[in-house]
Amino acid sequence: MAHVTQHEKAHLRKLAASAAGNSYSPYSKFRVGAALLLETGEIVTGCNVENCSYRLTSCAEQGAIARAVAELGPAVRLRAVAVANLNGAASMPCGACRQTLSEFGADSTLILYPGDGGSDEETTLGELLPHAFRAEFIR
Ligand code: THU
Repeated sequence: MAHVTQHEKAHLRKLAASAAGNSYSPYSKFRVGAALLLETGEIVTGCNVENCSYRLTSCAEQGAIARAVAELGPAVRLRAVAVANLNGAASMPCGACRQTLSEFGADSTLILYPGDGGSDEETTLGELLPHAFRAEFIR
C-alpha cells in the first residue's frame, strides 16, 4: 500500500468532500467528489457531472483524472485517491472508475472512501480491481 500519512489522508478526504460541493447531479442528487494525490505530491479534484441522457454522466473520479491529465500532462501517476459524497452514504469507485484509475495507478494505490454510517474506510486499487486489464497487454 502506498505510504500516505494520516494528515494527508484527512486532507484528501476533506478536499474530496469540498469538490462534491460543486457536483452537477440534478438527476441522482448524489453529490460525489474525488481528490487525487499524485506521486509528485500535487492534488487534483473532480466531481460528478450528470447529463439528461443519463449515460453520458461523468463520475467524480473520471472528472478528476481528465483534469489531472489536462493540467499536468499524460505522465500523472496516482499515490492515493479519496472519494466522498455529501449524501451521508457509503460509496466507493464504481467499476468503470476502477478501470479508469488503474490506467494511472498501481495495485498499491490507496483508495479512501466512506463506509456505512460515514466511517473512514480504505483499501487499495489492487483489492478493488484484481487482474485489471492493463496497457501492457496491447503493446
Ligand atoms: N458516481 C461517482 O461520481 N463516482 C462513483 O464512483 C460512483 C457514482 C456518481 C455518478 C452519478 O452521477 C451518481 O454518482 C449516482 O450514481
